[in-house]
Amino acid sequence: LTTPSEAIDGELLARSPGLRMCANMAVGYNNLDLPALTARGILATNTPDVLTETTADFGFALLLATARRVTEAERWLRDGHWTKWRYDTLLGRDVHGSTLGILGMGRIGQAIARRGAHGFGMRVIYHNRSQLDAATEQACGARYVSRETLLREADHLVLVLPYSAGTHHSIGMAELRQMKPGASLINIARGGIVDDAALARALREGVIAAAGLDVFEGEPQVHPDLLTLDNVVLSPHIASASEATRRAMANLAADNLIAFFTRGEALTPLNPEVLTR
Ligand code: GLV
Repeated sequence: LTTPSEAIDGELLARSPGLRMCANMAVGYNNLDLPALTARGILATNTPDVLTETTADFGFALLLATARRVTEAERWLRDGHWTKWRYDTLLGRDVHGSTLGILGMGRIGQAIARRGAHGFGMRVIYHNRSQLDAATEQACGARYVSRETLLREADHLVLVLPYSAGTHHSIGMAELRQMKPGASLINIARGGIVDDAALARALREGVIAAAGLDVFEGEPQVHPDLLTLDNVVLSPHIASASEATRRAMANLAADNLIAFFTRGEALTPLNPEVLTR
């Protein structure tokens, strides 16, 4: 049973000749070298679905905290500045009625879209490898747009796409420069999808207004420049961390192990082909 902090790669596999299964306690599985596992006939499973709504809640929490400068305001209060309060202290950016952009429209992206469209009256646009069917788009209140339109029009851009070599640095300085100067960027997907050094520079230079980040390149390290900026909300990879959901994830991972070792089956296999070999 693994978590995203453990890399199950060629080196580990070479030292683990008896390994038969890897149950990853996460929906994302870029910490697994899936082709290498499959080539050795090792089953891999992940934990989809059980974390969708909890992760979407956190994406929205980060979006709200970033737009309304919640953590910065708390630091200001704790630092004893309240006597300096003015009518224009800590002005943020509205969430209701603004444009929510979502890059990556899987289960979690769709759950975030529903919150934005139906809870906050947002105009929701998204970009994805493939367009959703019309009924799903309608249920999410979301409209498909090109990547360029998404970057140009979003007031709050949420990243929810899986990490792979193909999505490495999907958001770098060129993309940040296409965004509105008042926009915020929220990353609850994976570190490495954003070029964190470029993002820190963009936040310092006002290329975009703010960011909310739950994931980082090289976790648990955080780019030092991000730690010095006030216009970024930082959290340590906790989007799915509610008590109920972490329990559900652990149970699903354990149930996958039990199903495999008792019946040769899996509930949520990533490489089901190894079961039929
Ligand atoms: C957490 O990051 C997950 O992929 O479940």
